[in-house]
Amino acid sequence: MDFVILFLSVLIVLFSLYFLYLQRNQNYPPVIRGWIPWIGAAFEFSKAPLNFIAEARDKYGPVFTIIAAGKRLTFVTLHEDFQTFFTSKDVNFEQAVQAPVQHTASISRDSFLKFHPACNTLIKSRLILSNLPLLSSQLSEAFDEHLELLGTGSSGELCDLVRSAMYPAVMSNLLGKYNSPASHSDLQEFKTIFQTYDEGFEYGSQLPGIFFWKWAKSKQWLLSLLGKMILKAESSIPAEKSSKTLLQHLVTTITDRYLPNYGLLMLWASLANAIPISFWSLAFILSKPSVYQTVMEEIAVAFNGKDKRKTTVSQEELKQLPFLKQCVLEAIRLRAPGAITRMVVRPLQIQNYTIPAGDMLMLSPFWAHRNPEFFPEPEEYKPERWKKADLEKNVFLEGFVAFGGGKYQCPGRWYALMEIHMFVALALYKYEFTLLDPLAKPSSLHLVGTQQPVGSCRVQYQHR
Ligand code: HEM
Repeated sequence: MDFVILFLSVLIVLFSLYFLYLQRNQNYPPVIRGWIPWIGAAFEFSKAPLNFIAEARDKYGPVFTIIAAGKRLTFVTLHEDFQTFFTSKDVNFEQAVQAPVQHTASISRDSFLKFHPACNTLIKSRLILSNLPLLSSQLSEAFDEHLELLGTGSSGELCDLVRSAMYPAVMSNLLGKYNSPASHSDLQEFKTIFQTYDEGFEYGSQLPGIFFWKWAKSKQWLLSLLGKMILKAESSIPAEKSSKTLLQHLVTTITDRYLPNYGLLMLWASLANAIPISFWSLAFILSKPSVYQTVMEEIAVAFNGKDKRKTTVSQEELKQLPFLKQCVLEAIRLRAPGAITRMVVRPLQIQNYTIPAGDMLMLSPFWAHRNPEFFPEPEEYKPERWKKADLEKNVFLEGFVAFGGGKYQCPGRWYALMEIHMFVALALYKYEFTLLDPLAKPSSLHLVGTQQPVGSCRVQYQHR
């Protein structure tokens, strides 16, 4: 036993000396390693990762490496390096996300590396801008139906109201009407379990499920639900390609036993970011009286007195709501994902540093969007800054990276923009909302995905 301990200690010392030697000779970026070997700065980092990144950048400069739980996370924070992050052949998306995918959706490495390219191409091609008309009218009807279920008036958590109306509508649109929670109790159950899965997604992606049994149970429940959804999707595949749901396309693309697992990932990707942003868009608008008034005037002209109990919105009508679209983009800017990642597969030059192969290269859209060079008064919610972007040609503002970039840029981005724009327009046209609490603060706990609100953000609402 003593010999084993002695042997391991010598091994650790030799490894540490080797890495110190490399560090001195290779001009690696500054390293934040904490006191405990292997664990590194994991504890300090995980307390509030978003704040940790900003403090590290101020202290160590624009490129730095955090050692956390045996991983080297190298952050690039300068805009001029983002193109390298997105397009360099020395970094790899699939290698970076494979292990988290294995933890969160139980997809084997071999299966992921085999099917991910086809899966990415499929989602990109189905949710491309020119295909949105195939989805938009059914989505608008589903939003109308589920918004009406909120009733004539009441009060509640805005976040929960948004989930109640959006989850079933988006699921019906992308997975098929028969795969949307049918009753109130089905919806409540789905909401509770999906929320547990979503909240634990980040920790679940790093550590084995045995550490979080409640989260692991939510994953199993969702996998079993997806299994049943796939059976229903398979039994009703229409002959016409354009009538197939996204899930039905997935069914014909993935041919191994992990099909439900890919279904779960797709479901998570389609709900986890867009629904919080719909909440933030509404909350920001309601918290700024002048913005709220301008939005309502714009909606009144575009919808021109149409029925408030049965309201559908066409894409043409959405085009008449440019200010509302700016409001949505400004909400995305302020609540953008905490970090996105690539794996360095060959040594990479950034600034004057060499980033070694094996490092996880990290970019924070959340902090990139707080660069005053691109977004003056970055913490202010200012939808009008988006006037400068050519949104009719779908060009965003320079410095905006909420959807990532390069080959693996979010394939759902045009669908996301359409659904949020449509949902917020419909919700505000049908209901008069009043905020009962101050605007919620974003959580600084998570790096994966858009920010969640902390604490209560209740509204009173009344059918108009
Ligand atoms: C405001 C809402 C959304 C935001 C901010 C967002 C952001 C992102 C980001 C940052 C990535 C990673 C990109 C990279 O690493 O370069 C991503 C990936 C992805 N997103 Fe989105 N997303 C949103 C909504 C959606 C929606 C509605 C869908 C589907 C309907 C979707 C589907 C996906 C998928 C499938 C991937 C993974 C792509 C792959 O593995 O190749 N996203 N998203």
